Amino acid sequence: MSKTAILEIDGKKYEFPVIKGTENEEAIDIKTLRSVTGGVTTIDPGYKNTGSCESAITFLNGEEGVLRYRGYAIEDLAEKADFLEVAYLLIFGELPSQQELNKFHEDIKQHSHVDEDVKKILDGFPKSAHPMGVLSSLTSALVAFNPSSVNVDSEEDMYNAMVRILAKFPVLTAWAYRKRTGQPLDYGDDSLGYVDNFLKMMFKKPHGEYKSNKVVVDALDKLLILHADHEQNCSTSTVRMVGSSHAGLFASLSAGINALWGPLHGGANQAVIEMLENIKEDGGDTHKFMQKAKDKNDPFRLMGFGHRVYKNFDPRARIIKKSADDVLSALGVEDPVLNIAKGLEKEALEDSYFVDRKLYPNVDFYSGIIYRAMGIPVEMFTAMFALGRLPGWIAQWREMRLRKEPIGRPRQVYIGETHREFKPIEKR
Ligand code: SDX
Repeated sequence: MSKTAILEIDGKKYEFPVIKGTENEEAIDIKTLRSVTGGVTTIDPGYKNTGSCESAITFLNGEEGVLRYRGYAIEDLAEKADFLEVAYLLIFGELPSQQELNKFHEDIKQHSHVDEDVKKILDGFPKSAHPMGVLSSLTSALVAFNPSSVNVDSEEDMYNAMVRILAKFPVLTAWAYRKRTGQPLDYGDDSLGYVDNFLKMMFKKPHGEYKSNKVVVDALDKLLILHADHEQNCSTSTVRMVGSSHAGLFASLSAGINALWGPLHGGANQAVIEMLENIKEDGGDTHKFMQKAKDKNDPFRLMGFGHRVYKNFDPRARIIKKSADDVLSALGVEDPVLNIAKGLEKEALEDSYFVDRKLYPNVDFYSGIIYRAMGIPVEMFTAMFALGRLPGWIAQWREMRLRKEPIGRPRQVYIGETHREFKPIEKR
């Protein structure tokens, strides 16, 4: 006997089914609410209590700090898989065989060329342009160069659009970096692995050899896996919302990039390093900044702390914190802000303000320390998040389209003026 929920309004009772997911999450299905009640809806700013869809891609349990992609634990994937393997898993639902993975990578390599005219758009940006603004613009512009990626009515069209953007996005990301540093753009080397090739496009000096650094390749591969998907976060919900109007994949991704840019979301990894640098410049007094974070009159927040869903340790933060020490020592990098970060974390985990609100370090708290040790500048941190999140966005967009989800169109509660007569200007 399936469970139901009863809602009573003005003495009248309404019954709604309660659905249960494979991880025993329960949700009240209110699809008929407005029609059976004659217009009553719900309101839930920030959708803290509202599910937008059923999804089979990522499961997270915020209370227990659990994160799984298609049923596989993030700890296992970060340790045993590589980023392209995880991208395949997220998109198609199964870990690929070696043959499937090789074909996936080959299909991606076929499209690693970015039309030369895209460079003219890039040239139009000032060097100071933030990489996220460049990336969202160039991703949207790619539609003009790949018109077949818009109407993806068949799985074949969808596959072609997906491998195109998986091929071109790393190129655009590296180009956004080289634009800022005034370097000539690099076209990559198809003989390299996906992540290694990205690093080559980022760091190969115009007149020098590119030497792969296995520590950096492995560390970045792991970071990209950890960022690859995270169920219905702000940017993923944006990609699904835009895609629900049947806008193309590239246009939907461009919207997601802009949502991720915000400092409360993916932009936090840049904000964390800027915060840690400020604390260092200010003399390293973490306690002073802890007080600021707790002061309601002070807009300062402890960036990299807190999470809408995790009310326990973000499992990704735990993995990244551990690899931060390994990567920095392997690269022989001493970064004073790492100790400041650890000091802040220790103090926060013992402070009732943070403990009572279940504020723990999230994925962004330590990631920037590793990116910086790899030589990636802070303005590129959120672009790295986007590079990691790309397969998750694609997987979620594909699921939404294959499930033929309806166009997203929330309701509202109107609180403005009721009807009033027009007043001619001479009478105002
Ligand atoms: C990501 O959703 C995802 O999955 C996102 C993400 C992904 O992979 O896609 O995990 C990636 O975006 C991680 C989050 C990165 N953002 C930051 O690190 C920015 C700092 N964090 C906060 O802005 C905040 O914690 C959010 C935005 C992450 C979550 O905000 P919520 O869920 O809306 O929580 P809230 O703002 O209602 O805060 C609840 C309380 C408030 O205090 P009270 O009003 O109850 O007294 O906690 C306080 C907040 O003031 N609080 C903080 C805080 N975060 C929350 N106080 C100080 N410092 C903080 N960081």
